[in-house]
Order: sequence, then C-alpha cells, then structure tokens
Amino acid sequence: MTLRYAIIGNPVAHSKSPEIHAAFAAQTGIDLRYDRLLAPPDGFRAAVEEFRAHGGRGANVTLPFKLDAFAYATEVSNRAHDAGAVNTLTFDSTRVFGDNTDGVGLVKDMRDNLKCAIAGTRILMVGAGGAARGVIGPLLAEGPAVIAVANRTFSKAEEIVQRYRPVGNIIVIALADLLGHQFDIVINATAASLENDLPVIPRRAFAEGSLAYDMMYGKGLTPFLALGRQAGASVADGLGMLVEQAAESFLIWHGIRPNTETVYRQLRLFAPLN
Ligand code: ATR
Repeated sequence: MTLRYAIIGNPVAHSKSPEIHAAFAAQTGIDLRYDRLLAPPDGFRAAVEEFRAHGGRGANVTLPFKLDAFAYATEVSNRAHDAGAVNTLTFDSTRVFGDNTDGVGLVKDMRDNLKCAIAGTRILMVGAGGAARGVIGPLLAEGPAVIAVANRTFSKAEEIVQRYRPVGNIIVIALADLLGHQFDIVINATAASLENDLPVIPRRAFAEGSLAYDMMYGKGLTPFLALGRQAGASVADGLGMLVEQAAESFLIWHGIRPNTETVYRQLRLFAPLN
C-alpha cells in the first residue's frame, strides 16, 4: 500500500516539500504519496485527524502550525522540546511522535554543504521568533564561541537567550549596540525578507570572510543578503536548509537518509540567488 505523507501549512501552495520528498522517494525506491494540505488558521487538529483517518503516516508542518504540532504530539524528541516547536510528525494508531529537523538541517547545510565550520565562530542571530528558536539548540551543539541574539523587540531576544543559557555561550545584544562588534556568521531568522525588508544590521558587523545566511528561500538576493555581499561576506539562502531538513524527516519516516545534492541542484535552477 502506498504510504501517505503531507505538508500542512497556511499558506502551503508555495511549498517545495512534495517535490523534494518525491525526488527522495524515486532515489530510494520507496512507494509514497506526499501532498500539500491547507488547514484553516484554527483548524490544524481537525486537518491532521482527517489526514490520519485517510491513512496518513506522517506530516511535515510549516507556518503557522509548528506550535500546534508541538501541542498535538503525544511524545516529542529532545530537540523539539528545546525548540518548543515541531516540524515533523509521525503517526501510529494511538501515538503521535513530534520532532524538529530545522536546526539539524541548517547545521548540515552550513557545515557540510557550505563548508563553513561553526565551532569556535562568533554567530549573530537576528530574529527571535519560531525560526530562530528552532535552530539555536543544534547551532550551540556545534560549539560556537558565542551566539549573540538581536531582535527588533528586545524582550523576545532576552527570552530566547534565557531559555538557552544553560546549554552554551549565548548572549543578548541590542540592535543599536551592534556597532563595534564583528561576527563570522550572521543569520537572518526574521520575517523581514518576506516583505523585502531588512533588519537593521551595520555593515561592519560582517567580519572578513564571514557568511551571511538568510533562512528564507525563493526570494533571490534578499536585502539582507545584498547587504552581506556589499560587506564582503559570502551569501547563502535557506534552500539548502530546506532540502536538508526534508532529508532528516525522510530519515525519521523511512530509515534512509537520501542524497541531497542532486535535489538541491535541481531546485536551485528555478530559484537562483542572483
Ligand atoms: P517565525 O516563526 O517565522 O520566526 P515570528 O515568531 O512572527 O515568526 O517571528 C518573526 C521574527 O521576525 C521576529 O523576530 C520579528 O521581530 P519582532 O519580534 O520584533 O516582531 C522579526 N521581524 C519581522 N519583520 C521584521 C522586520 N521588518 N524587520 C526586523 N525584524 C522583523
């Protein structure tokens, strides 16, 4: 019987997950069907229950439902617990296992694809919403010298730092205090690029040889990445992270980690960075 999976979100029409999982399935010879499921803003639980009733075995979860998915899961992994958010659900008849593959996806993309070592680096994380929270734990596990969190709303940055302080060297920094500080990796985890907007970061915050990483994808060279490039940084968007987090979900569901390189290259053809 064909195994059924889906990506649940709102909006979800733009999601590349069905193509990615179809490519992984073809590569590994697994017979599966992977759909897009649009759920109304207050209808996450009902949409998942209906999908399970029709044979759904697992689901990826995207905005705005990662917290709903966390609440819906009967068991969660440590990394999902730390993030307080779930992007991968696995169902059996009575239980729902929640995991979060976003952080490991980002780390794999940086470390293995972009060959950007994380250990010992100074990281600036701009943004303190769900996107930031999903990745800070796995980044800290790589042993950076420090992660400094800056956000438009300072109190949200403080909250996130407090949550992760027991795990590693993480500090809060006001956007206005960034002048005079330099970072090896600057990550944009804000929603600013969605609106073609830019978080306020001084150009000098990008150290020589630094990496500017926008977790957004499909928006070309965002204002954040353009700033990074002007500052002499190398630039990357979130396409690699997207493919890597999908491969981790695939591994959870099917026990095989597919090769990501060819799938990434295919997608990149339709979403160039320049
Ligand atoms: P997500 O789950 O995608 O992270 P979120 O929880 O709404 O979504 O968080 C969005 C993040 O983008 C926040 O850090 C937000 O800053 P605030 O906490 O001050 O709201 C940030 N953000 C959104 N639009 C922005 C903009 N135009 N400039 C700078 N930061 C922005």
